[in-house]
Amino acid sequence: KQRVLSGIQPTSDSFHLGNYLGALQYWVRLQDDFEALYFIPDLHAITVPQDPKQLRNRTRTAAAQLLALGIDPKRSTLFVQSQVPEHAELTWVLNCITGFGEASRMTQFKDKSAKQGTDNATVGLFTYPVLMAADILLYRPHVVPVGEDQRQHLELTRNLAQRFNTRYKKTFVVPEAHIVSGTAKIYDLQDPTSKMSKSAATDAGLLNLLDDPKISAKKIRSAVTDTEREIRYDPETKAGVSNLLVILSSLTDTPIVTLEKDYVGKGYGELKGDVADALVEFVTPLQAKVQEYMDDQGELDRVLAAGAERAREIAGGTLAQVYDRVGFLAR
Ligand code: TYM
Repeated sequence: KQRVLSGIQPTSDSFHLGNYLGALQYWVRLQDDFEALYFIPDLHAITVPQDPKQLRNRTRTAAAQLLALGIDPKRSTLFVQSQVPEHAELTWVLNCITGFGEASRMTQFKDKSAKQGTDNATVGLFTYPVLMAADILLYRPHVVPVGEDQRQHLELTRNLAQRFNTRYKKTFVVPEAHIVSGTAKIYDLQDPTSKMSKSAATDAGLLNLLDDPKISAKKIRSAVTDTEREIRYDPETKAGVSNLLVILSSLTDTPIVTLEKDYVGKGYGELKGDVADALVEFVTPLQAKVQEYMDDQGELDRVLAAGAERAREIAGGTLAQVYDRVGFLAR
């Protein structure tokens, strides 16, 4: 079996619908055909300040959400990044083959550091994409399912893999990004030209999976649309309506063309009502499952410990090879 790997940060109290539609729904599906490794990058989380108690809680909540969404720890390896020390160790080696200019060109770093001011941005934030490359290359996956915003990081990962392979000896698999067009970028309900994100100025356009479903329904009913009346998929001129169509299509597993036909002669109010219903139907049972996993913290921690142990078997092998090829003494 080929291998798939991906990660999602524990930086908020809930995953949002963009995370689910852009990435997590594929994580669940890919388990059927791939040997899957999924992890929670808490080392990445501390590239911006985190409250320790909150981080610990969010890491567990992230794991509970992944289990509730259908990540099956019997088939897939689910782990927390900091419990596998090889991630930090490989990062150092990769830091030493990454160009300063190359890292400076990463748009996510440029955006985030511009927001915080260069003096407040940390070196950790700067080297964030290199840590991400290490996350991936340690496991030699063929496929990495992510949303559009991670494309450039995947490209860097591919470049670093090729560079190491050329400079030393073929060591890494050059991974492919798995970015599904259509859901690769879910947009903010209030600002449908920006991606849905936990760091938006207001959370009025953000649908969190663990929020009170009534609040989410209300946000959907207040979503920004346009002054026409026609329900049609046209992201260029009808960003808000198109985003709602993508969400409804994914949640109900109905092609967009079918939806367009169904809504001929109907108004935006009706569309929003249906999106709200579909979301409530999706999150209500999910929230109950997340609560069950959170209620048994001992079991949750055991699942993660077992996952870390399995991950280390793979990561340890790759790191030993890398250290040898770089010229370090055996330990
Ligand atoms: P993160 O935690 O920000 O997001 C997790 C996944 O959700 C996708 N995503 C979206 N997809 C569609 N529409 C949106 N509005 C939207 N917002 C987020 C992201 O593209 C991502 O797939 N750096 C990564 C975490 C990471 C990682 C890795 C991923 C660390 N190491 C190794 C893959 C492999 C990140 O911050 O994702």
